[in-house]
Formats: sequence, structure tokens, C-alpha cells
Amino acid sequence: MKNLLVSLLICVTCFFPFVELLAGAKKEKVNVNRIFDNASQQYLNLKNEIKNDNVFPKTYDKHMQRLKTSTSEWWCSGFYPGTLFYLYKETGNKDLYIEGLRMLKLLESEQYNMNTHDIGFMMYCSYGNANKIAPMPAYRDILINSANSLISRFNPKVGCIKSHNSAPDDFIVIIDNMMNLELLFWATQATGDSTYYNIAVSHANMTLKNHFRPDNSLYHGLNYDPETGKVKHYQAGQGFSETSAWARGQSWGLYGYTMMYRFTKDKKYLDQAVRIADFIFNHPNMPDDLIPYWDFNAPDIPDALRDASAAAINCSALLELSQYVPQKLSHKYYRIAEKILLALSSPEYTAKVGTNGGFILKHSVGNIPSGTEVDMPLTYADYYYIEALCRYKALNE
Ligand code: GLY
Repeated sequence: MKNLLVSLLICVTCFFPFVELLAGAKKEKVNVNRIFDNASQQYLNLKNEIKNDNVFPKTYDKHMQRLKTSTSEWWCSGFYPGTLFYLYKETGNKDLYIEGLRMLKLLESEQYNMNTHDIGFMMYCSYGNANKIAPMPAYRDILINSANSLISRFNPKVGCIKSHNSAPDDFIVIIDNMMNLELLFWATQATGDSTYYNIAVSHANMTLKNHFRPDNSLYHGLNYDPETGKVKHYQAGQGFSETSAWARGQSWGLYGYTMMYRFTKDKKYLDQAVRIADFIFNHPNMPDDLIPYWDFNAPDIPDALRDASAAAINCSALLELSQYVPQKLSHKYYRIAEKILLALSSPEYTAKVGTNGGFILKHSVGNIPSGTEVDMPLTYADYYYIEALCRYKALNE
């Protein structure tokens, strides 16, 4: 009898968390459809702010009450159309789609831009999303030309794609560049040419080798010797210092290595993504609501500014990563992502419809060292937030 009771107890204690976790995974706590409707309203407001000018939204200065815009060359030009396409897919609102198509025309010439590594962000978030909704040979050609522009920056001696343009004896690579590799994987799938895939893998492997510190935090930038491939020095970039952990840099790494695993199924990328998630979410300076300070080592924590863009990127990445890890970790990542969505959708971070120049989220940090877009809305915060919501909704369906 005693043995029976012990067995029963073990059985119940083992089974209960599993049942509870399963139940938790099904319970959707974030009202995604209401968020998509409000976000669509906001983006139609943003469209009206642009007034059919041939410019891209960058941010909104609430003190001057003025929209700030850019030309198509700005690294963020793909996020606005990309978000319009996500919102169109979720709501069916044709005005969003038409505005997205208008922006694609303005972006078209960037396919030949070899001056930037950001062409993956610019073209894959925009044309890539449009091509998922309605595949077209013209989109395919533009994306392949964009991938060719990106690989023109590859240096086989370093094994990386160059990020910033610099003096001939410098070769700067920043962690953000991991995000541009998705375009290359798409290009190999579309053409059958493995060149793009191999360059993406080489870049990711060199970044894995050189960009991480022993605690799995990331340097923002490295300067390689372009002849020998040796690391000359590390750069603070947009972070507080060379040795600090700039929040969005960690997020680009988390998203980037999760995406690497999606395309290669190489476990070393999965393991690295898990290690980055450990660093981010176990960090003593991570606030309770999981919206990180702009740098984990900002000197004025707890008064330092938060970065909603880093939170949005983390959230989208974690929802994908939750699909690749064992069940217990999967539920943990899902719960963390859900908590981030709850924080981002609260009035603290989500703008009231009709305010914030039409942007969805408030309180992101662009570049503190250069004093630009500090505590402002940003197109990429909106983009990865809406992407995270699409992923969350798909997981709950
Ligand atoms: N350099 C791109 C970023 O601000 O994340």
C-alpha cells in the first residue's frame, strides 16, 4: 500500500507540471486581433503623415511634433513596408497593402546598392514579405540582385561580409550583420546556387568565433585585418563601452543564431542562441517587465532608458526558438515572450491611436553615443513587435 502511494505521488508530481504547462501554452493572454486593428489604424495615420511624399518614416519627435523621414538608402527603409505587409496579412485592409506597394517602388533601386551590409534588412523585410503574400518574378529578381549586392562585400580572407565602409586596412563587422544573412539563405533556396548559403555560414562561423565574450555577451563591433583575418580590436559601437553589453546587439545575436538554426539545422547555432537567451534573461540588470535597459551595463541603471526595440526583437526570436528546444525550455521561452508582449502592449509602451506620429510603440533607443533617436519610436521596434505578434498568433492557432 505504501509503495502504491509513493508511486502515485511520483506520478502526480511528474505529470502535473506537464499538464499545467500544456494548458498554459494554449491560453492566449494577449489580445492580438485588437492590437492588429489599433496598429493598422496607427499605420494609416503614419501614411497620412507622410502625405504621399517619396520618403520613409524614421521616427517622431514628440517635442517638435514632427515626423522625421529618410530616403531609401537609410538602413531602416524596409521596415515600414514590411510592417504594412504583416498588418495587411492579419487584417486584410487593402489600404495598408497599397501603401506597402507604393514604398516598394521607392526602394527598387536599392537592389544594386553595394555600399551597405544593411541591404538584407532593407530588401528582405520589404520585398521578402511582399513575395510571401504574392510571389512575383519581379520580386524574385530584385531579391536576387540584392543578395548579389550583399555578397559583393564578402572577403574570403576574413570569412565575413563587411559591415561599415572604412579605410582599406580596416574591415569592420558588427553583430547586426547576422540579420542580413536571411536574404542569402532565401537566395540559395530560390536559385539553387549554394554560394549565398556558404557565405552566410562562413560569416556566422567567424562571428561565433570572434564576437562573443566568455559570458556569451556580444561585442557590437570588431575590426579585422582584411589581409590576415585577425581581430585588430573591438568597438563599443552603439553600446556604452567596448566591454559593455549593448541591449540591441544581444537581440540581433539571439535572432540571428536562431535564424541560422532554422536554415542549417546545425546544433552549434541552436546552442549559441540558447546561451544568448540565458545571458539576456538571467542578467541581474534585466528589469521585471523584461524591457531591457538600452545597455546591460549602462552606468545610470535603474534610471537608464529602456529600449522597446530590443524587447521586440527578443520576443520574436524567442517565439521561433521555442519551436526548436525541448518542451520544458520551449514553454519557458513562450512564457517569457508572452510577458514581453504584455509589457509592450501596455499603455507604457503602446501609443494611443492618433498619437506618436502614427508609430505603434514608444520608448526605443536608436543610438545614444551619437545622440540620435533617443527614447523615440522606431520603425524596427514596430516591425519586430508586429512580427512577434504574428508568430504568437500562429503558435496559438
Ligand atoms: N545599427 C543598427 C542598430 O541600430 O541596431
